[in-house]
Amino acid sequence: MKDYRAFFGCEKDVFPANIAMKDILMTDALRGVIDRFEYTLRLGGMALVTGEIGSGKSTALRYAAGQLHPSEYLVITVTACTGSIMELYRQIVTEMKINRSSISRSVMMNIIKKEIVELAESHKLKPVLIIDEASLLRLDVFEELHTLCQFEQDSKLYLPLILAGQSTLADRLLYRTSASLASRIIARTHLEGLTRDGMKDYILHHVHLAGVTANPFDDAAVTAIHQASGGLLRKANHLARGALMAASKDGSCLVSAEHVRISSTELF
Ligand SMILES: Nc1ncnc2c1ncn2[C@@H]1O[C@H](COP(=O)(O)OP(=O)(O)OP(=O)(O)O)[C@@H](O)[C@H]1O
Ligand SMILES: [Mg+2]
Repeated sequence: MKDYRAFFGCEKDVFPANIAMKDILMTDALRGVIDRFEYTLRLGGMALVTGEIGSGKSTALRYAAGQLHPSEYLVITVTACTGSIMELYRQIVTEMKINRSSISRSVMMNIIKKEIVELAESHKLKPVLIIDEASLLRLDVFEELHTLCQFEQDSKLYLPLILAGQSTLADRLLYRTSASLASRIIARTHLEGLTRDGMKDYILHHVHLAGVTANPFDDAAVTAIHQASGGLLRKANHLARGALMAASKDGSCLVSAEHVRISSTELF
């Protein structure tokens, strides 16, 4: 495919998946996640971040965690899988760089909890556990997970927990077996798709980040991206980048709704 970057005078790829922290756009949704993140850390509770695929959950968590100073916080981020709670414990142990391990579930839990207490009491570091893709966790993991965050009969809140995942995560917490975990959740937010105006700002933000001063997307193209993506950011990224390619192939400096349509034929 023709390189759209040279055609539009982009200094780098537009709409990249690996957006740098400093380039993340402050949206209302992101502000909502940060507020709840801070509140949960302050109280030592649990929070839930849900949203459709590609709505910006992981980016929001990365941004919120990135605001925490490493001299004060230890952020433990794991991406959930469909395995047992032992699998999750192993992921946490690896992420915390703990050299001990065991084949016993209770021993593994105690290894992690001991380290958390040590961090909180001796090193004066505040641990935070973030589990992304938590909608993948099995129900038996939800049943047990709260015990990892219980210290001294629940009187010490050493390990705030942020769970993020697709909308089904909230449904899974409604199961009776998840009730203990759900009862400890003190804040939740659901990331919706951007509005039409929000999408316009989002597209402009990325265009400017790439060093392009004149916005090549006409109004109809923005509307088409908004409609075809449902306001969801990853889909919007792919549509907008593909539309830039289609326009450059046409030799057109303006990106139209037709270019967005052409781009959409390559996507799911
Ligand atoms: N605030 C933002 N500013 C700029 N770009 C963003 C922002 N939020 C998300 N993005 C972009 O949208 C893409 C999708 O976001 P992200 O991966 O965070 O979504 P997600 O909800 O975690 O998706 P999934 O459900 O697949 O895990 C990212 O690659 C990133 O480029
Ligand atoms: Mg994600």
